[in-house]
Amino acid sequence: MTTAPSTKTVVVLNGPNLNLLGTREPAVYGSSTLADVEQLCRQACARHGWTLDFRQSNHEGDLVDAIHEAGRLQAQGLLAGVVLNAGAYTHTSVALLDAIKGTAVPLVELHISNVFAREAFRHHSYISPAARAVMCGWGVQGYAMAIDGLQHWQD
Ligand code: DQA
Repeated sequence: MTTAPSTKTVVVLNGPNLNLLGTREPAVYGSSTLADVEQLCRQACARHGWTLDFRQSNHEGDLVDAIHEAGRLQAQGLLAGVVLNAGAYTHTSVALLDAIKGTAVPLVELHISNVFAREAFRHHSYISPAARAVMCGWGVQGYAMAIDGLQHWQD
């Protein structure tokens, strides 16, 4: 008797201050809350039959740990991919770069705003060299688009 394969998981990670979505600089980030974003992600995952693991943390080490966890799923063939909005850690964190390289998880770097139309310090990303894809400027709909895009990386 064969057992049915377990469903793959999409890990969506949100970094610092993204818990403030909805009230944080609405002219830049829009009026959707993080709960709304989670709902968008849940609907996108449902379209593909994937499980969603959706997290937010203001602490760099939590995000590193979450990437390591995703790496363990990847090793078991149970990861559809990671969507990471690292917030300001994008522009500062060698630790996140090393975690992505160290686990080799298939990862989309995502930003709600178009970081290239903003301050110069947002133009550099430590994440991009280790990301398989980068997207920015699509607002919160970008999360759903990123999840749909993961379909193209599945065997
Ligand atoms: C952001 C862009 C970053 O520069 C900023 O620090 C954030 C959010 C975005 O989603 O547009 O916190 O990642």
